[in-house]
Amino acid sequence: MPTIRFREADGTIREGSAEGGSAMELALRLGVRGIEGQCGGSISCGTCHVHVPPDWIDRTGPASQAEIDMLEFEPGFGPASRLSCQIELTTALDGLTLDVANG
Ligand code: FES
Repeated sequence: MPTIRFREADGTIREGSAEGGSAMELALRLGVRGIEGQCGGSISCGTCHVHVPPDWIDRTGPASQAEIDMLEFEPGFGPASRLSCQIELTTALDGLTLDVANG
């Protein structure tokens, strides 16, 4: 079961583990500030925006075109941007820290 950390805008770290599901779902369970998941993971709200450390992108995969279309006009959008609802938690992501993009 992977352990994932979320770094909020003020630097607070929240950590948790999950057996499957998305990073957004884990963030909601942990009460991570800045992750709202308003659309439930259907790529239509952008309230689950995170930044992936560059050396982890080969494991999370890059943002899909649908994610880019959703995020490209959001504050903080960049090459490390992902929708956390589209990051499936697998054991390969154990130890990942995601930076929450929304303050
Ligand atoms: S929860 Fe809406 S886009 Fe991720």
